[in-house]
Amino acid sequence: MNHPPAEYDLRMRRHYDELKWLYCELYHNDMDAFRALCQILQEGAAQRSPDLRQLDQTRERAPQWYYRSDLLGMQLYVKQFAGTLKGLQSKLDYLQSCNANYIHLMQVLKCPAADNDGGYAIEDFRSVDPSLGTMEDLKELTAECHHRGMSVCLDFVMNHTSQEHEWAKRARAGEQEYRDRYFFYDNWDIPNQFEQTVPQVFPTTAPGSFTWLEDCKQVVMTSFYPYQWDLNYGNPVVFNEMVSIMLFLANQGIDIIRIDAVPYIWKQLGTDCRNLPQVHTIVRMLRMITEIVCPGVLLLGEVVMAPEKLAPYFGTVEKPECHMLYNATTMCTTWHTVATQDVRLLRHQLEQVSALPKEYLFLNYLRCHDDIGWGLDFPWLQQFGWQEVPHKKFLNDYFTGRYPSSRARGELYNDDPRLGDARLCGTTASLCGVESAVESQDGKALETALQLDVMLHAYLLTQSGLPILYSGDEIGQLNDTSYHDDPIKQADSRYLHRGAFRWDLAEYRTDLNTAQGKLFQRLGRLEQIRSGFHVFAAEAQMLPFETGSSSVLGIKRIRQEQMLTAVFNFSGSTQKISLEAYGTHTDLYSGEAVQTDGSWALPPYGFLWLLSGDTHKNESSNPRLPD
Ligand code: GLC
Repeated sequence: MNHPPAEYDLRMRRHYDELKWLYCELYHNDMDAFRALCQILQEGAAQRSPDLRQLDQTRERAPQWYYRSDLLGMQLYVKQFAGTLKGLQSKLDYLQSCNANYIHLMQVLKCPAADNDGGYAIEDFRSVDPSLGTMEDLKELTAECHHRGMSVCLDFVMNHTSQEHEWAKRARAGEQEYRDRYFFYDNWDIPNQFEQTVPQVFPTTAPGSFTWLEDCKQVVMTSFYPYQWDLNYGNPVVFNEMVSIMLFLANQGIDIIRIDAVPYIWKQLGTDCRNLPQVHTIVRMLRMITEIVCPGVLLLGEVVMAPEKLAPYFGTVEKPECHMLYNATTMCTTWHTVATQDVRLLRHQLEQVSALPKEYLFLNYLRCHDDIGWGLDFPWLQQFGWQEVPHKKFLNDYFTGRYPSSRARGELYNDDPRLGDARLCGTTASLCGVESAVESQDGKALETALQLDVMLHAYLLTQSGLPILYSGDEIGQLNDTSYHDDPIKQADSRYLHRGAFRWDLAEYRTDLNTAQGKLFQRLGRLEQIRSGFHVFAAEAQMLPFETGSSSVLGIKRIRQEQMLTAVFNFSGSTQKISLEAYGTHTDLYSGEAVQTDGSWALPPYGFLWLLSGDTHKNESSNPRLPD
């Protein structure tokens, strides 16, 4: 039997009182359960390998290692990208050539073949999907990533299990101990009461939040799909078991635990079952537990909520919760800005984000494996006459290419005609117009679409936080409509942007005569520049500014003596703007020195990164992460 490291006791002592307090408050002083939890922590610490313990120590010495400007993420489905985990390991060179040093791997753990919600209905949290390889392969992969200075993020789908999970099967068979791990009801009385106040997640593909199980004549809570059974965190056994699984995953070398759908984990009758105070108690406990057992591991919260709901998930400086959160609102506002060519909402939102404490680290992205939900600040937009329902309709018309001037090619998601509330799917390139330009063999339109795509990435890399690219975007991968013919997938249009990675097209990435080459090289250049200057690091000050054009976003970034003036033209025509910058600057993209009297003509979908002050690069650009 291994022993926990000496530091374990110290870390435990640091957090013990608060952990016990919160646990006892949530679980009605169930001290047996608390002792069982402590045992799980001790075992988790004992099983942590010497290499991971060392990584913990290195990261504890540099706790802000994930704030650096040379960190760049890429999110991918292992199967679609490389077939297996071993296949993925052989593609690490490629990922490094994309400048990615943080990889989020999806659909890794064992799920049923059908009914798996793209990997978010787990059958066994301790096994890898056999078609991808084994847990040993995952461990080997994370070790190789660490050796290369890369870190690995994995989903921890904590809100629910698949109905094929052993607990679910035993619950279905009538074992009370397992029924208590979910929400089971003999009849619809209580479920119907919940339905009064709980909004639906998938109103058209999976209406309602409960499912009738005919075989055992029971109703079970299923907030997402009917085959995803919500876990009952009111039961301390569930919390303890899930902690044990989380530590197990951390001990396979996972660096970032993405806590999936975390706002939903606490349910209470009469509420909307979102963001309840108990959720924060649980997340705070998870944070303390990682700090005690595996302090090198980060918690990434998947909270797709409005900004005011988001901040509490960071906790406070003294009592932090998540290390990082997705910036979903800015993502969808970005696409609103593409369609409207009006940057006012985006600037307003970046002002809000930049006013938050620098400790809050956001993950920024243009696209991910999910849809774009139009969670815009509609009350704010109303002042310009934009009303929620017609505006969502405009956005959806625009991105499905129905709007006259639009070249975008997306598909609707969960289109509920009663609510006019559809969301949207599609890859970055297809939404930018690359697909329609390729189809109509329109070279000029293709250049414009690529320019928009590159500008959006430049803007993404200028935001504060950690940028995450969606695999395939680096080569402008288009929508994959083959899911229309797949009976398992056809009801879920998110598969439109979950196609197999096009290695055949990636071959062209060095050929500047191709769309793939143009994108790959331009994005690569932007990423290299970003990693080279500390003005892009998360700690830098970010100040959106008024450019004099409602289509051009202006952002200043300042860190010590470095100042970046960045502008992004979201319109298809040249814009005359004011830069609020004078004299000699370095145009980082061209590498040339430029003079400015403060005014500039920015071409359609153009952008500028102008550096002034101290123009020295980081000591070593693209340095390895601590290992
Ligand atoms: C998260 C995932 C999404 C999934 C949902 C339910 O939001 O990103 O793909 O459908 O959780 O697990």
